[in-house]
Amino acid sequence: MNFKEYIRVVENFPEQGIRFKDISTLLKEGTVYKAAIDSLAEACKGKQVDIVVGPEARGFVVGAPLAYTLGCGFVPVRKPGKLPAATIQASYTLEYGKDALEIHEDAIQPGQKVVIADDLLATGGTISTTIQLIEKLGGQVVGVLFMIELSYLNGREKLANYDVHSLIQY
Ligand code: PRP
Repeated sequence: MNFKEYIRVVENFPEQGIRFKDISTLLKEGTVYKAAIDSLAEACKGKQVDIVVGPEARGFVVGAPLAYTLGCGFVPVRKPGKLPAATIQASYTLEYGKDALEIHEDAIQPGQKVVIADDLLATGGTISTTIQLIEKLGGQVVGVLFMIELSYLNGREKLANYDVHSLIQY
């Protein structure tokens, strides 16, 4: 399936000069959304996966159905102040702006095998920070999956030690 044709490119959002890749036009097509998740699940074939981690917010709509498909657990990584129990935190620089992320400190057990799923790889800041959080808890990152990769931002270089897979490249 040609997933790219379902992505809407919005000029100058959220800032002048940014060509925003909108996945909502893919998500609203049920068969395409399912095929995209199934394709990401296929990329996990042969791997033991205990947990899928998804960063807020769009990582939830990729990570949760992937976890369901794989039959494993889902763990949210969230922006500060959203998770109710004890957390650990790490901060990062975004494609536009700066932010921090948190994970529940009991969300991952040492040695658990973790796949990270998100809608988009841009600079790689979000995922590098997510990896830091997972590894601090003793999780082992066995794969990093994206619907979209902005190759021209070289985010993959930050993830050189990990098995990275994307469905759509720009
Ligand atoms: C976007 C996107 C990725 C991240 C990619 O999320 O969903 O998580 O940016 O950028 P990076 O590779 O440069 O870190 P955003 O922080 O805008 O959050 P949202 O999903 O809540 O809109």
